[in-house]
Amino acid sequence: TKNLVVLISGSGSNLQAIIDATKSGQIDGRICAVISNKADVYGIERAKKAGIKTHVLNHKAYASREAYDQDLAQVIETYQPDLVILAGFMRILTANFVQKFVGKMLNIHPSLLPKYQGLNTHQRALDAKDTEHGVSVHFVTEELDGGPVVCQACIKVLSNDTAETLAQRIHAEEHIIYPKVVEWFCQDRLTMRNGNAWFDNELLPPTG
Ligand code: GAR
Repeated sequence: TKNLVVLISGSGSNLQAIIDATKSGQIDGRICAVISNKADVYGIERAKKAGIKTHVLNHKAYASREAYDQDLAQVIETYQPDLVILAGFMRILTANFVQKFVGKMLNIHPSLLPKYQGLNTHQRALDAKDTEHGVSVHFVTEELDGGPVVCQACIKVLSNDTAETLAQRIHAEEHIIYPKVVEWFCQDRLTMRNGNAWFDNELLPPTG
Protein backbone atom coordinates (compact mmCIF):
# COMPACT_ATOMS: atom_id res chain seq x y z
CA THR A 1 0.00 0.00 0.00
CA LYS A 2 1.49 3.29 -1.13
CA ASN A 3 1.44 6.53 0.81
CA LEU A 4 -0.17 9.37 -1.10
CA VAL A 5 -0.20 13.12 -0.47
CA VAL A 6 -2.67 15.25 -2.44
CA LEU A 7 -2.22 18.98 -3.13
CA ILE A 8 -5.25 21.11 -3.96
CA SER A 9 -6.35 24.73 -4.34
CA GLY A 10 -10.07 24.40 -4.87
CA SER A 11 -13.20 22.30 -4.91
CA GLY A 12 -11.29 19.03 -4.93
CA SER A 13 -13.57 16.96 -7.15
CA ASN A 14 -10.50 15.07 -8.38
CA LEU A 15 -9.43 14.57 -4.78
CA GLN A 16 -12.90 13.11 -4.15
CA ALA A 17 -12.55 10.70 -7.06
CA ILE A 18 -9.21 9.55 -5.65
CA ILE A 19 -10.60 9.24 -2.10
CA ASP A 20 -13.45 7.12 -3.47
CA ALA A 21 -11.03 4.94 -5.42
CA THR A 22 -8.92 4.26 -2.33
CA LYS A 23 -12.08 3.38 -0.40
CA SER A 24 -13.38 1.01 -3.08
CA GLY A 25 -9.99 -0.71 -3.27
CA GLN A 26 -9.34 0.38 -6.86
CA ILE A 27 -6.25 2.25 -5.66
CA ASP A 28 -3.92 0.34 -3.36
CA GLY A 29 -2.95 3.47 -1.49
CA ARG A 30 -3.61 5.55 1.57
CA ILE A 31 -4.04 9.30 1.42
CA CYS A 32 -1.90 10.46 4.34
CA ALA A 33 -2.60 14.16 3.95
CA VAL A 34 -4.28 16.79 1.84
CA ILE A 35 -2.53 20.14 1.56
CA SER A 36 -4.12 23.31 0.21
CA ASN A 37 -2.60 26.72 -0.40
CA LYS A 38 -6.03 28.24 0.25
CA ALA A 39 -8.16 28.04 3.37
CA ASP A 40 -11.93 27.59 3.10
CA VAL A 41 -11.88 25.57 -0.10
CA TYR A 42 -14.33 22.72 -0.45
CA GLY A 43 -11.53 20.22 -1.03
CA ILE A 44 -10.45 20.64 2.60
CA GLU A 45 -14.00 19.77 3.71
CA ARG A 46 -13.93 16.67 1.52
CA ALA A 47 -10.67 15.54 3.13
CA LYS A 48 -11.99 16.16 6.65
CA LYS A 49 -15.18 14.24 5.90
CA ALA A 50 -13.01 11.32 4.79
CA GLY A 51 -10.98 11.52 7.99
CA ILE A 52 -7.80 12.62 6.21
CA LYS A 53 -5.27 14.93 7.82
CA THR A 54 -5.31 18.42 6.28
CA HIS A 55 -2.87 21.30 6.11
CA VAL A 56 -3.40 24.83 4.82
CA LEU A 57 -0.19 26.49 3.76
CA ASN A 58 -1.08 30.01 2.70
CA HIS A 59 1.29 31.25 0.01
CA LYS A 60 0.44 34.86 0.86
CA ALA A 61 2.26 34.46 4.16
CA TYR A 62 5.57 33.91 2.35
CA ALA A 63 8.00 36.43 0.92
CA SER A 64 9.15 34.25 -1.95
CA ARG A 65 8.19 31.23 -4.01
CA GLU A 66 11.40 29.52 -2.83
CA ALA A 67 10.48 29.98 0.83
CA TYR A 68 6.96 28.70 0.26
CA ASP A 69 8.09 25.65 -1.66
CA GLN A 70 10.67 24.86 0.99
CA ASP A 71 8.00 24.73 3.70
CA LEU A 72 5.64 22.86 1.42
CA ALA A 73 8.29 20.22 0.73
CA GLN A 74 8.98 19.91 4.43
CA VAL A 75 5.32 19.25 5.26
CA ILE A 76 5.04 16.73 2.42
CA GLU A 77 8.21 14.93 3.46
CA THR A 78 6.95 14.31 6.99
CA TYR A 79 4.55 11.81 5.36
CA GLN A 80 7.26 10.08 3.30
CA PRO A 81 4.89 9.72 0.36
CA ASP A 82 5.47 7.34 -2.52
CA LEU A 83 3.44 9.70 -4.70
CA VAL A 84 2.50 13.38 -4.61
CA ILE A 85 -0.72 14.08 -6.50
CA LEU A 86 -1.41 17.59 -7.79
CA ALA A 87 -5.19 17.81 -8.08
CA GLY A 88 -6.04 21.35 -9.11
CA PHE A 89 -3.07 22.79 -7.24
CA MET A 90 -2.84 26.14 -8.95
CA ARG A 91 0.73 27.13 -8.23
CA ILE A 92 3.88 27.14 -10.30
CA LEU A 93 6.49 25.02 -8.55
CA THR A 94 10.17 25.90 -8.22
CA ALA A 95 12.84 23.68 -9.74
CA ASN A 96 14.20 22.88 -6.27
CA PHE A 97 10.80 21.62 -5.19
CA VAL A 98 10.19 19.57 -8.31
CA GLN A 99 13.62 17.92 -8.06
CA LYS A 100 12.70 16.52 -4.66
CA PHE A 101 9.82 14.53 -6.15
CA VAL A 102 10.95 13.59 -9.64
CA GLY A 103 9.18 10.46 -10.82
CA LYS A 104 6.96 10.64 -7.75
CA MET A 105 4.66 13.52 -8.64
CA LEU A 106 1.69 13.59 -11.01
CA ASN A 107 -0.44 16.47 -12.28
CA ILE A 108 -3.73 16.70 -14.15
CA HIS A 109 -4.05 19.44 -16.72
CA PRO A 110 -7.26 20.29 -18.58
CA SER A 111 -5.97 20.22 -22.16
CA LEU A 112 -4.54 17.80 -24.67
CA LEU A 113 -0.93 18.55 -23.84
CA PRO A 114 1.32 19.81 -25.32
CA LYS A 115 -1.52 22.12 -26.36
CA TYR A 116 -2.53 24.91 -23.98
CA GLN A 117 -0.09 24.76 -21.14
CA GLY A 118 -0.99 27.27 -18.42
CA LEU A 119 -4.40 28.77 -17.69
CA ASN A 120 -7.80 29.24 -19.42
CA THR A 121 -7.43 26.08 -21.46
CA HIS A 122 -11.14 25.67 -22.28
CA GLN A 123 -11.52 29.19 -23.66
CA ARG A 124 -8.32 28.82 -25.64
CA ALA A 125 -9.59 25.59 -27.22
CA LEU A 126 -12.82 27.39 -28.17
CA ASP A 127 -10.98 30.43 -29.54
CA ALA A 128 -8.84 28.14 -31.69
CA LYS A 129 -12.03 26.44 -32.99
CA ASP A 130 -10.64 23.07 -31.98
CA THR A 131 -12.99 20.19 -32.73
CA GLU A 132 -11.46 18.10 -29.96
CA HIS A 133 -10.39 18.99 -26.46
CA GLY A 134 -9.37 16.97 -23.47
CA VAL A 135 -7.32 16.39 -20.38
CA SER A 136 -3.88 14.98 -19.63
CA VAL A 137 -2.26 13.31 -16.65
CA HIS A 138 1.51 13.71 -16.65
CA PHE A 139 4.58 13.33 -14.48
CA VAL A 140 5.75 16.67 -13.17
CA THR A 141 9.09 18.00 -14.37
CA GLU A 142 10.64 21.44 -14.06
CA GLU A 143 8.97 22.56 -17.26
CA LEU A 144 5.47 23.91 -16.48
CA ASP A 145 2.86 21.41 -17.78
CA GLY A 146 5.72 19.90 -19.77
CA GLY A 147 6.44 16.53 -18.17
CA PRO A 148 5.81 13.22 -19.92
CA VAL A 149 2.15 12.46 -20.50
CA VAL A 150 0.82 9.21 -19.08
CA CYS A 151 -2.82 9.29 -20.10
CA GLN A 152 -5.25 11.54 -21.97
CA ALA A 153 -9.00 11.64 -22.45
CA CYS A 154 -10.54 13.33 -25.44
CA ILE A 155 -13.96 14.96 -25.91
CA LYS A 156 -15.67 16.43 -28.97
CA VAL A 157 -16.21 20.17 -28.92
CA LEU A 158 -19.87 20.94 -29.73
CA SER A 159 -21.01 24.06 -31.59
CA ASN A 160 -22.82 25.41 -28.54
CA ASP A 161 -20.06 24.66 -26.02
CA THR A 162 -18.85 27.32 -23.63
CA ALA A 163 -15.82 27.22 -21.35
CA GLU A 164 -18.21 26.11 -18.60
CA THR A 165 -19.80 23.22 -20.47
CA LEU A 166 -16.36 22.06 -21.62
CA ALA A 167 -15.07 22.24 -18.05
CA GLN A 168 -18.01 20.11 -16.91
CA ARG A 169 -17.46 17.36 -19.47
CA ILE A 170 -13.69 17.46 -18.91
CA HIS A 171 -14.23 17.04 -15.18
CA ALA A 172 -16.21 13.86 -15.79
CA GLU A 173 -13.27 12.48 -17.78
CA GLU A 174 -10.78 13.60 -15.13
CA HIS A 175 -12.61 11.64 -12.47
CA ILE A 176 -12.08 8.49 -14.52
CA ILE A 177 -8.51 8.85 -15.73
CA TYR A 178 -6.83 10.32 -12.65
CA PRO A 179 -7.79 7.47 -10.28
CA LYS A 180 -6.83 5.02 -13.05
CA VAL A 181 -3.33 6.49 -13.38
CA VAL A 182 -2.87 6.54 -9.60
CA GLU A 183 -4.03 2.91 -9.54
CA TRP A 184 -1.32 1.99 -12.07
CA PHE A 185 1.34 3.89 -10.16
CA CYS A 186 0.40 2.11 -6.94
CA GLN A 187 0.68 -1.23 -8.73
CA ASP A 188 4.23 -0.30 -9.80
CA ARG A 189 3.16 -0.47 -13.42
CA LEU A 190 3.98 3.16 -14.14
CA THR A 191 7.38 4.81 -13.78
CA MET A 192 9.32 7.78 -15.08
CA ARG A 193 12.80 6.99 -16.38
CA ASN A 194 15.15 9.37 -18.18
CA GLY A 195 12.37 11.90 -18.51
CA ASN A 196 9.99 9.45 -20.18
CA ALA A 197 6.88 7.68 -18.95
CA TRP A 198 6.91 3.88 -18.97
CA PHE A 199 3.93 1.58 -18.60
CA ASP A 200 4.51 -2.09 -17.80
CA ASN A 201 8.14 -1.57 -18.89
CA GLU A 202 7.16 -0.19 -22.28
CA LEU A 203 7.99 3.36 -23.27
CA LEU A 204 4.84 5.45 -23.69
CA PRO A 205 4.91 7.41 -26.95
CA PRO A 206 5.30 11.17 -26.51
CA THR A 207 2.19 13.16 -27.47
CA GLY A 208 2.06 16.09 -29.88
C1 GAR B 1 -9.25 20.41 -12.84
O1 GAR B 1 -10.03 20.64 -13.98
C2 GAR B 1 -7.80 20.30 -13.19
O2 GAR B 1 -7.59 19.72 -14.45
C3 GAR B 1 -7.38 21.73 -13.19
O3 GAR B 1 -8.05 22.30 -12.09
C4 GAR B 1 -9.28 21.62 -11.92
C5 GAR B 1 -9.44 21.24 -10.46
O4 GAR B 1 -10.74 20.78 -10.20
N1 GAR B 1 -5.96 21.88 -13.06
C6 GAR B 1 -5.26 22.87 -13.60
O5 GAR B 1 -5.76 23.75 -14.26
C7 GAR B 1 -3.76 22.81 -13.35
N2 GAR B 1 -3.10 23.86 -14.05
P1 GAR B 1 -11.08 20.09 -8.81
O6 GAR B 1 -10.61 21.01 -7.68
O7 GAR B 1 -12.57 19.94 -8.81
O8 GAR B 1 -10.39 18.76 -8.77
